[in-house]
Amino acid sequence: MRKLGKKKVSLLAGLVSACLLLLVGFNEHPPKQVEMTGMISVAHRGASSYAPENTQAAFQKGLELGADFLESDVHLSKDGELVILHDEKVDRTTNGTGFVKDYTLAELKELDAGMSFDASFSGEKIITLDELLDEFYGEIGLLIEIKKPKLYPGIEEKVVELLKKYEDVSGVIVQSFDIESMKKIHSLLPELQIAVLMKPSTLLPTSKRLEDLTSFATYINFDVSYINKRMVDRIHAYGGKVLVWSKRDQQLISKGFQYGVDGIITDFSQWPVEEPTFLARQ
Ligand code: G3P
Ligand code: CA
Repeated sequence: MRKLGKKKVSLLAGLVSACLLLLVGFNEHPPKQVEMTGMISVAHRGASSYAPENTQAAFQKGLELGADFLESDVHLSKDGELVILHDEKVDRTTNGTGFVKDYTLAELKELDAGMSFDASFSGEKIITLDELLDEFYGEIGLLIEIKKPKLYPGIEEKVVELLKKYEDVSGVIVQSFDIESMKKIHSLLPELQIAVLMKPSTLLPTSKRLEDLTSFATYINFDVSYINKRMVDRIHAYGGKVLVWSKRDQQLISKGFQYGVDGIITDFSQWPVEEPTFLARQ
């Protein structure tokens, strides 16, 4: 039999690999699942009692402390990048001033996002949602809050476009106080879990409202001070789940257990040793 030349062999090998890839499909981010049972703990803005909120350091700490989820807040930069920080202005958490939407990603990356928490975190940077997923997807659940979506037309499409790169999004929840925005996310990516955040100023949802919310949202989340056991039971009866958080309620953890919620969003992400440790920072 005639021997194949080296060139032909490598061409053939390339062809076989291409066919295999076509057969099995190619995904830059293969599916990874995060195992979770019982009441979940969510590290609010990362373990933000321990490291500057919404930074890599805080997310890493949340992972180390055994949180089930990392909560993060997303805005859009001037050049359309999804960036992680809480406020619509950079003033409180960085050494810059002004609105996030007026900064390009490169300019945001110049800012120090650690110093205002503690000098030992100097040099900590604002990270993108892409970077967060890159580092933590599949290692821990991700609760991604879209902040002020009305300020950023098209932010829903961008978040979905990014999440679609991940084959299995069962470990990701997207949440917002903006209900319409969450309906939009649900219509763009129905398999994604949605959470709606209830504004403390509004009345507890009526049955009709609960029916509507649970038609697209898996979670209805509350500040713990504005909910009671009856409401948690009603949401459960509609097939929904509840996460609670607090900025000032010292009873966050015990109330959460008492009300039978599905998880607690805390600045620290282990179950209590000293309850005040779990309170969210202002
Ligand atoms: O996840 C709930 C909580 O994060 C909502 O409040 O202001 O901390 O984003 P805030
Ligand atoms: Ca948040």
